[in-house]
Amino acid sequence: MMRPDSKIYVAGHRGMVGSAIVRELQRQGYTNIITRTHAELDLCRQADVERFFADERPEYVFLAAAKVGGIIANRNALADFMYENMILEMNVINAAWRNGCRKLEFLGSSCIYPRMAPQPMKEDCLLTSALEPTNEAYALAKISGLKYCEYLNRQYGTDFISVMPTNLYGPNDNYHPEHSHVLPALIRRFHEAKVSGAQSVTCWGDGSPLREFLYVDDLANLCVFLMNNYSGNETVNAGTGKEVTIKQLTEMVANTVGYEGEILWDTTRPNGTPRKLLDVSKSHALGWHHTVELSDGIALAYADFLSNPMRAER
Ligand SMILES: NC(=O)c1ccc[n+]([C@@H]2O[C@H](COP(=O)([O-])OP(=O)(O)OC[C@H]3O[C@@H](n4cnc5c(N)ncnc54)[C@H](OP(=O)(O)O)[C@@H]3O)[C@@H](O)[C@H]2O)c1
Repeated sequence: MMRPDSKIYVAGHRGMVGSAIVRELQRQGYTNIITRTHAELDLCRQADVERFFADERPEYVFLAAAKVGGIIANRNALADFMYENMILEMNVINAAWRNGCRKLEFLGSSCIYPRMAPQPMKEDCLLTSALEPTNEAYALAKISGLKYCEYLNRQYGTDFISVMPTNLYGPNDNYHPEHSHVLPALIRRFHEAKVSGAQSVTCWGDGSPLREFLYVDDLANLCVFLMNNYSGNETVNAGTGKEVTIKQLTEMVANTVGYEGEILWDTTRPNGTPRKLLDVSKSHALGWHHTVELSDGIALAYADFLSNPMRAER
């Protein structure tokens, strides 16, 4: 259990997840949080990471730094996604163990599960069949990170855990046209269509795929909860257990943004996986539930998007 003055390192604190974890820790009264920007400490540089951990000796570590991207970025840079994520994870997890870290929590992603996993996906479907090829490199790096935590627990008795979130959204999201995920991409597109007075917006596929979305502040709350209440080698899924079609999602975003034009579907474009939903019975059994429903979360995310004009330009 973390004490209010425990020394807590949040890696990736400027990212969407890391910044939400810092906000949540501060909200809960933790006072000794340490951070480094990417420019101050490149987590891919092993000697620098070792020096940082030897000097600071954090008691608890949230590993939310990663090279993250949408489908296009992932597909175009498979080698970079594997190399940077693998090196970064190994450096941080290894240095944390070597320097007596009491507990580390590793952030992965639901893309670690097989492409054809039975839905909703349970934690134990890991490594039961082939991965989705477009983000295989990223998924393999994440699987290596969570397995390294498990192996350290088994070999050296550490208490390192991992959490696998579904699609996330919220403050500090990435709205880049090529590097963003589906929900922030839709927020940007409908915002721009409204501002330019476009009569229609065309989306890919037929809108039928089912997806799940978790507001990032809910994830941060779960991360702190797990740090204090969960130990074990098996990962924990982080989601709502609720799903919407991409068509429903698109309409929710259009309504929130106030876009009144037409929504068209280009059915010559691929739909992607028909259904992707996490089984969240494990987090529910531990006593944790999400609190922010999707319609409220989209309104909060859009307000955040508008509050930072620089972000809208990214
Ligand atoms: N976003 C989602 O929908 C989603 C869903 C499931 C899981 N996750 C997981 O959550 C974690 C965080 O994702 P996120 O959405 O918060 O990503 P993000 O907003 O891109 O944040 C990642 C952070 O890591 C930092 N970073 C990257 N490489 C670094 C390096 N070599 N040295 C130091 N810092 C480095 C980045 O700094 P710079 O920007 O300065 O490079 C950035 O601040 C990832 O493990 C991801 O797999 C995210």
